[in-house]
Amino acid sequence: MGWNSWNRFGCHIDEKTVRAVADAMVASGMRDAGYQYVVIDDCWQDKRDTDGNMMPDPAKFPSGIKALADYVHSKGLKFGIYSDAGSMTCGRRPGSQGHEYQDAVAYARWGVDYLKYDWCFTGTRNSEEAYALMADALRSTGRDIVFSICDWGISRPTMVDKSMPWEWGAKIGNLWRTTEDIYDAWAGRKGTSLGMVNILDLTESLYAYAGPGHWNDPDMLEIGNGGMSDVEYRAQFSLWAMIAAPLIAGNDIAHMSDATRAILLNRDVIAVDQDNLGRAGHRVRKNGDLEVWARPLADGGRAVVLFNRGEHPADITADWTDLGFPATAALKVRDLWANKSLGRASGHFTANVAPHGVVMVRLGM
Ligand code: DGJ
Repeated sequence: MGWNSWNRFGCHIDEKTVRAVADAMVASGMRDAGYQYVVIDDCWQDKRDTDGNMMPDPAKFPSGIKALADYVHSKGLKFGIYSDAGSMTCGRRPGSQGHEYQDAVAYARWGVDYLKYDWCFTGTRNSEEAYALMADALRSTGRDIVFSICDWGISRPTMVDKSMPWEWGAKIGNLWRTTEDIYDAWAGRKGTSLGMVNILDLTESLYAYAGPGHWNDPDMLEIGNGGMSDVEYRAQFSLWAMIAAPLIAGNDIAHMSDATRAILLNRDVIAVDQDNLGRAGHRVRKNGDLEVWARPLADGGRAVVLFNRGEHPADITADWTDLGFPATAALKVRDLWANKSLGRASGHFTANVAPHGVVMVRLGM
């Protein structure tokens, strides 16, 4: 769990903004709710010096990366950075190709705890080999660094190398992007970017690949960025938790509304995302626009989302038999957005669900 600069700030990222985000992670309660990593995405780099060392953009990061990492650490948070397996990043800054060990050593010296490694300008490189090389370089530093594989999975078959990151990602990194970028919309396509439900559906089919230490990454949260309603943002948060996705906030958390904050800080939903069993959930029932999703939990219970993709409110029912429970079981039901217990139910649970909305419950003995 953490925050990344890209969705909200793109290339307009500087140390002042990152410091403000780190401050807000603490002040908003996000750190205490489990958000840990503050990750700078593309465009922090300037060029390599004559020895090949990567230099940060001096106008945007005048204090240098080490000082920024120290600041983030002083807040009880972890610090992440970004590079690319090709000759250049997508934002046309220098990539790490040919400099893997040199860059890894620099990251370790700076106190980097997380590396997001992108896939632009990689030419004919083989992705598994390229990511394994950087993983080895990171490991050789002796520093514990989360490795985020950003080779866009399903959206990459137009490229030379057609292997998919979930086939090899578990042995090389900790999370792998399943698709091209998300954009802040319910559904659709903008350039190569995909709307929220498009990415959800592509990632859902990969649920069996996720597990402790190696996760499907359906890209970052758009909650609070303004392109969707709060109902839709609650759906993103709930469904990302159901598929055990990394919860990486992508908004300006130093200036967020109370509604955004309340979504990002829903501890019942966070607990589902972070459940110790580490098994991703998936869709167990679909009837037109009305769906039931389930995720098995460490306590033997299930998280269940009733999901209405339609344009009208609708009743949706989760049957115990679709969830792997005996039809006769009387299960405790907790509503995770109302944050209250609903008592016990037998056989099924039904609720009325808003258009583009969810009802999320936790079922247990
Ligand atoms: C493509 C990645 O998928 C995005 O998340 C972001 O890192 C951009 N590149 C940065 O250029």
